[in-house]
Amino acid sequence: MNKAKRKAVIAGNWKMNKNAAEAAELISALIPEVAGADCEVVVCTPFTDLPIAVSKTAGTNIAVGAQNVHFEKSGAFTGEISAEMLTELGVQYVIIGHSERRQYFGETDVTVNKRLKAALAAGLKVILCVGESLEQRQQGVTAELVAMQTKIALGGVSAEELKHVIIAYEPIWAIGTGLTATAEQAEEVCAVIRGVIASLYSEADAETFTIQYGGSMNAKNADELLAQPDVDGGLIGGASLKAPDFAAIVRAASR
Ligand code: 13P
Repeated sequence: MNKAKRKAVIAGNWKMNKNAAEAAELISALIPEVAGADCEVVVCTPFTDLPIAVSKTAGTNIAVGAQNVHFEKSGAFTGEISAEMLTELGVQYVIIGHSERRQYFGETDVTVNKRLKAALAAGLKVILCVGESLEQRQQGVTAELVAMQTKIALGGVSAEELKHVIIAYEPIWAIGTGLTATAEQAEEVCAVIRGVIASLYSEADAETFTIQYGGSMNAKNADELLAQPDVDGGLIGGASLKAPDFAAIVRAASR
């Protein structure tokens, strides 16, 4: 596998943090810090921050993403946002299937697949999240579970559409806990995911497919995680809320 064939993507998942004024401030601080980055830089903000994020990042190397999207185009879906509503704003990316959505909002592998297909049809790039709980890891089912999540999420997705998908491997036990997967653990599962892509599509598709690690990634551990052969980037929660911390991870990915 040739890592040079893949673009590193460092994405911040702000989760439910930052109002519009705070978003503008964070992005202003980020722009000069990541201007020379040799990787893709994305900020995934709350829905209410998307307009300001899109206007602030215009003409910069920072792309904007949302954190969820509904699968229908319009209709009686109170509280939901369609893919077209996002693209119309200038949003380029969307996170789908984050473990917090699976855990707290009833997201299933089947609805993840529906959202993913709707997002791709509208021209969005997708960051698909997969990952196991601590209990599942202890039961030894991590590889099978992550393979299953990946297969179901990508059902009906063509090789051409796959070019607009990246996968973030996020072990649930490492999210927001300060407990990072070791570089070996991250590599092992990212390699499993790449193997699944090869089996569903082709070796060539797997070789160019970007896989991120997420879960307590920070300026200190980014270098070692990103040095792994199958880890092509990061999905960053807590450390994406401070410009210097996020920029340090972007620099690690640019080395
Ligand atoms: P933390 O970096 O805060 O652990 O969050 C990771 C995450 O869930 C990113 O989507």
